Amino acid sequence: MNILLLGSGGREHALAWKIVQSKHCDELFIAPGNAGTLQCGKNINIGVNDFEAIKKFSLENNIEMIVVGPEEPLVKGIYDFFINDDEAKHIQLIAPSANGAQLEGSKAFSKKFMQRNNIPTAAYAEFTKESFEDGKTYINQHTLPIVLKADGLAAGKGVVIATSIQDALNTFEEMIINQQFGEASSKVVIEEYLDGIELSVFVLTDAKYYKIIGHAKDYKRIGVGNTGLNTGGMGCVSPLPFLTDVFLHKIETRIIQQTINGLQNENIIYNGFIFFGLMKVGDEPFLIEYNCRMGDPETEVIMPRLKNDIIELFQSIYNDTLKDIVVEFDKRACAAIVAASKGYPGDYEKGKVIQFDNSVIQQSNNSFIFHAGTKLNDDGDVVTNGGRVLAVTSFGSNISEAVHQSKKILNHIRFDGMYFRNDIGYEFNS
Ligand code: AMP
Ligand code: GLY
Repeated sequence: MNILLLGSGGREHALAWKIVQSKHCDELFIAPGNAGTLQCGKNINIGVNDFEAIKKFSLENNIEMIVVGPEEPLVKGIYDFFINDDEAKHIQLIAPSANGAQLEGSKAFSKKFMQRNNIPTAAYAEFTKESFEDGKTYINQHTLPIVLKADGLAAGKGVVIATSIQDALNTFEEMIINQQFGEASSKVVIEEYLDGIELSVFVLTDAKYYKIIGHAKDYKRIGVGNTGLNTGGMGCVSPLPFLTDVFLHKIETRIIQQTINGLQNENIIYNGFIFFGLMKVGDEPFLIEYNCRMGDPETEVIMPRLKNDIIELFQSIYNDTLKDIVVEFDKRACAAIVAASKGYPGDYEKGKVIQFDNSVIQQSNNSFIFHAGTKLNDDGDVVTNGGRVLAVTSFGSNISEAVHQSKKILNHIRFDGMYFRNDIGYEFNS
């Protein structure tokens, strides 16, 4: 079948790399893609939120499946757009409905959903401009630290962990009164701080059945030792030695199954990924958040470790055979390290030529380079085009070895201002 993949990050390069390995993939198109996805299919110059153009292209090119990478088109209702269109409703979308995407699109919606479905999460309350004074009282009575979250999508910047009451009050005012994130912060969720180890588990679901397709730990801060500003993610490792069968069983029974049952009971249409952002507090799992998509750079370790044909997994959602699929994983450890532009997550320059020492890189069967913010310039050079530029993923017999291998490859890639964290996976050094 012909497949269209939406997005342009490292996540999409990893998905594209996996999709073209499927025996069911005839032609793959990526909109808009990056310089890396060009190695897997044809890049199409269409934006991910331009549903009319996506439909027109899909009909003209006999697209039978659309895989949606980022959250924005999901929250804007790409699934509903296609299913309600007589000409295009035959196309299988790997996507939740707009209602399902609210699990990520609104923190208040997702917290209420967790509560209704008895899913363990941090205690919270939500406030708007009308309840601003109540919110201040709530903060004044709260223990420290306090977590404040803009309700809507805020490009990963909407969560603040305040370590003083004054900071929390200032942030609250900034979000609600000064509309720091516009409409997205017209409502604010204030919640208890969970102290533990963070991990992410990824599921593919049809809102009836689910399969776990992988898990990972992401390193979100820009600086070594988890210091400095939050980023989209600077590296990932998988599998996690502390994710024992006992702990996974708790996650499945208390969080994943409750979520799938909740979707089914509430008639929420969902034919896609759920990203469970979890905190291990002591030996107990808590759900911090849902995302309605795969993670980035998590996808860059999940796709290499997943042995199944990904299109067979996707098709099983529409054939009602998801429950019969046996998911198989590469047992080796996998590590992705992101190379970023100087200045990221603040301002950075684009257009720096990236040099790859291919003689060394091509010899390595155990490493993959997934492009994120890259493009081809008019001279045919690969140049930087974003904050996170690429991720190098490697396999190893353990996490340290996988990390070591990725660092080795990164030393054969150069661009002006290139930065990467050299301590990814530091807790798992052996
Ligand atoms: P989110 O946008 O909800 O993923 O939040 C961003 C990050 O903030 C998470 O990945 C956590 O590292 C942190 N975070 C969010 N909520 C909490 C919480 N209740 N307790 C501790 N850390 C949190
Ligand atoms: N790496 C975290 C995310 O994709 O949201």
